[in-house]
Amino acid sequence: MIPHIDQLLTEIEQYTAQNKEQLEQFKSQYTGKKGVLQDLLDQIKNIPAEQRKEYGQQVNKIKEAAQEKLKALTEQLENLQAANVNKPHDLTLPVIPDGLGALHPLTQTTRRVIQIFERMGFNISDGPEIEDDWHNFTALNFPLNHPARDMQDTFFISKGSDNDMALRTHTSSVQVRVMEKMQPPMRTVSIGRVYRNEAISVRAHCLFHQVEGFYVAKNVSFKDLKDTLYHFVRELFGNETKIRFRPSFFPFTEPSAEMDISCHICGGKGCNVCKHSGWVEIGGCGMIDPNVMKNCNIDPEEYTGFAFGMGIERITMLRNQIKDIRLFTENDVRFLKQFS
Ligand code: PHE
Repeated sequence: MIPHIDQLLTEIEQYTAQNKEQLEQFKSQYTGKKGVLQDLLDQIKNIPAEQRKEYGQQVNKIKEAAQEKLKALTEQLENLQAANVNKPHDLTLPVIPDGLGALHPLTQTTRRVIQIFERMGFNISDGPEIEDDWHNFTALNFPLNHPARDMQDTFFISKGSDNDMALRTHTSSVQVRVMEKMQPPMRTVSIGRVYRNEAISVRAHCLFHQVEGFYVAKNVSFKDLKDTLYHFVRELFGNETKIRFRPSFFPFTEPSAEMDISCHICGGKGCNVCKHSGWVEIGGCGMIDPNVMKNCNIDPEEYTGFAFGMGIERITMLRNQIKDIRLFTENDVRFLKQFS
């Protein structure tokens, strides 16, 4: 009677709607004023009288199927909407913390160190981490083949030619670079990474940071060096911090000294960090050797200068009571979070 009745029923049966538009689409296609159902009803007048009963039954079947489907689709869509609406308002869901970062403790120390020296009239200078033999050793009065070159466990990049290239073992190389370019008076600090081929342990690392400072002018004396470092240490660690100088040797300074401060962790009473001595070394210093000045075309008869170099990690470990140097490079957020 209705030739495609089975196909029509399957179509209705299989219809799915993910959203309102698709539901509307179903309505207009089947149950709406211009839909299939209305069309079939309109045709009833063309059907011969004796077949009308059967035709009517078939139309009814389609009508029922369409209405049932419409009801199911509407319900489904309502449920879906209800679920979506509830989601953003579920107050029982755990909060996603809005994690604010913090400056790395080494950066914090670096900034503070720069601030203190800037107030004393030092400016900031910089140099490359990959350095040639001249700036890292020769100009700094390290004699050729002198064991002092091994003292620093250098990572060489290319060796054997006239000009070895290496990862700088100290920031003293920046001293040379600045002195080569400028004439006294000059007063500058330089902070950056240095590299030494050392076994990594609680106290030592193959990669660390130094702050280098120097002052060259007329009549600069060892007293100026001491005054500068006294002031620096008190500013950074507090007024009660004690400082002492021990005679030492560096090829590029004469006389040379190593400086210790009273252990910040035990207050000088003795602990693991200060190896029960009450003192911890923070760096080396001395009066710039006349040979270094000559190598940089500065007249040592006219000018004198002092230089010092300190470990940023060491200073930070003392400032923040950190007992293991390896923590700085591990990037463990549980460690880093403590410095926000
Ligand atoms: N460059 C030395 C070191 O790395 C430190 C230092 C710097 C000593 C300047 C004296 C003067 O150990």
